[in-house]
Amino acid sequence: MSNITVCARFRPVSSKERRDHGDTICIQNLDAETFNFKDEKEEEFTFSFDRVFYQESEQADVYEFLALPIVRDAVNAINGTIITYGQTGAGKTYSMEGPSILCCDEQKKGLLPRVVDGLFKSIKVSEETAKYTIKLSMVEIYMEKVRDLFDLSKDNIQIKESKVQGIFLSGVTEISVLDPAEALQSLSSGIANRAVGETQMNMASSRSHCVYVFAVQQDLTTEKRVRRGKLILVDLAGSEKVEKTGAEGRVLEEAKTINKSLSALGNVINALTCGPPSKANHIPYRDSKLTRILQDALGGNSQTALLCCCSPTLSNASESLSTLRFGARAKHIKALARVNCKEDKYTKKQGASSVTEDESHERILDKLRGRLDAKDVKLLEELFILEGIFFDPGSVEDLELAYEDVTLRTICSLQQAVEELVITVEEIKRENKDLAGENKALKARLEAAERSDRLCKDVGGNMTFLHRILDIGFFSPLGWFILSCQEGGMKTTSLVLHNAGFQENNIESGLH
Ligand SMILES: Nc1ncnc2c1ncn2[C@@H]1O[C@H](COP(=O)(O)OP(=O)(O)O)[C@@H](O)[C@H]1O
Ligand SMILES: [Mg+2]
Repeated sequence: MSNITVCARFRPVSSKERRDHGDTICIQNLDAETFNFKDEKEEEFTFSFDRVFYQESEQADVYEFLALPIVRDAVNAINGTIITYGQTGAGKTYSMEGPSILCCDEQKKGLLPRVVDGLFKSIKVSEETAKYTIKLSMVEIYMEKVRDLFDLSKDNIQIKESKVQGIFLSGVTEISVLDPAEALQSLSSGIANRAVGETQMNMASSRSHCVYVFAVQQDLTTEKRVRRGKLILVDLAGSEKVEKTGAEGRVLEEAKTINKSLSALGNVINALTCGPPSKANHIPYRDSKLTRILQDALGGNSQTALLCCCSPTLSNASESLSTLRFGARAKHIKALARVNCKEDKYTKKQGASSVTEDESHERILDKLRGRLDAKDVKLLEELFILEGIFFDPGSVEDLELAYEDVTLRTICSLQQAVEELVITVEEIKRENKDLAGENKALKARLEAAERSDRLCKDVGGNMTFLHRILDIGFFSPLGWFILSCQEGGMKTTSLVLHNAGFQENNIESGLH
């Protein structure tokens, strides 16, 4: 359980500020966490953050306090997000990159190169037990469009959500990086692409949000488990107010869009600080691309750090005050970071919390056993591992949703099988009908054949009599007597035939 870590950073007074407004500063350092702030109207405020980095602070201090714990967690499959916020010129990019991304000055190196070093160092420590892959992607959000900084032709990347990956950038270029040098080279090419895009669109980097994503995959080969951690760094566009820029036309539109997305960020933070997400407490993540990308970071499965960058001078006091107020609100967000994988059920952890975890684990399995047989539970467990669904014992709901997914898929395939069977039955019915027709025709032919056969037999019998009559002689009394004993029809026929003068040969051939 962790709140968002919120820090404030004041950069040194710039030569321009000193020249234009003198070096009056608006902050009074109280301790490492607290300071007094006095604005142009001499109004005083006291702010407390997790840590305050004053003008003389080192880049290494910022990294160690704000980023290092998150980097270590990312290697252990806990998502992390680091955001720099503040007006243009407040030191966001300097904190993120340093004077330049490839800067070799150990003292001046920014968060990004230090994060890269930290990731590879942490991986090295755990390399004996796992195989790691790190993939890097870089996008820029400008005028509510997400642009791939590794492939400028992908200028409208969609943000999607899946059960396994959470929020992700669909189709974004991911570069596998094998060592820090390679990662820095890729970052440098992404930053160079950003400049190309900026020139093409005639805009400045301070008018877009830049998002760096490190996807860390851990293959625990002996345990046949895969764990994924995602580390996102965001260098936000300048937070200065539209009115103050005196902008017109396209620049005004840009400023409005930035303001809208930063307001959306503020609204999400407000909604999150008003209580836990529920139906009644809607969190408007979908109001901007920025909040959608940061959805997991702010409200869900992520360790998040916010660095509020400010100028220390009185001339920028009102912008600094709004930055600090933003940070103060963010401090109240409660976020829960989780491990993105199925924990080994045989690994017993020490301490009281493991008891609850084990109990929950058993409760989930019992629930499943009630509905499925042991073989199905085992299969389901394997499926979770294969698909990388995290098996968080605290989240019965997630597990049930995953179970519903599997059930739905099974129902779908069963429905398909039933549909196929219905089609087969219809075909068989049709064939059966055709066969019945043929059968009927055959029967009719058979009956006709039988009738004709019977007729032949009858005629054959009559022919015998006819022969006898002919032998005896038609006009003899015996002939008449025999003839009168025959059945009506045949008798008539014989008589008619005989009277007509037919010879017996003719009669026989006509009947056969
Ligand atoms: N902590 C710092 N130490 C020294 N110079 C700084 C520091 N922070 C910012 N600067 C300088 O101030 C100027 C503006 O900083 P930058 O990071 O570009 O601002 P942003 O990204 O917020 O617009 C740059 O010239 C930068 O080198
Ligand atoms: Mg910048």
